[in-house]
Amino acid sequence: MTILDIPQHEQHTDASAWTPVCRLVDLAPERGAAALVDGEQVALFRLVDDTVRAVQQQDPFCGAFVLSRGIVGTRHVGDEVVATVASPMHKQVFDLRTGVCLDPVGKSPVAGLPADLRTWRVRVVDGVVEVAAHATPAVVDDEGSAG
Ligand code: FES
Repeated sequence: MTILDIPQHEQHTDASAWTPVCRLVDLAPERGAAALVDGEQVALFRLVDDTVRAVQQQDPFCGAFVLSRGIVGTRHVGDEVVATVASPMHKQVFDLRTGVCLDPVGKSPVAGLPADLRTWRVRVVDGVVEVAAHATPAVVDDEGSAG
């Protein structure tokens, strides 16, 4: 697992700010990497189409910061095939676009944690992966997707 620690001086106080974390080529397709963005542990996943998704690193079902070691896969959600990550701990499955827990495997999250993951918007500029400074607000139903 790669830990990318972003120096404090590269962080911003603007809600619209983007934090550069690494080069796209530093991320292996369908492997997670952990980054510290604005003091929060974020799990990054480069997909086969070179889009990058970012979700919280903390697994809400065990409390451990391990999701960058999760297994990338796909699931049918409605008419779409979406990229997912399965927890390396107890195999709960999360939608990498929205963070929504698609399969809690019969378990409940750790007390105080929502089952769904927070997500961050990610963009790639000139080959550099940039993560939005703040997590995307929870998805509103009729928006369909986040990030
Ligand atoms: S507080 Fe650092 S980007 Fe918002």
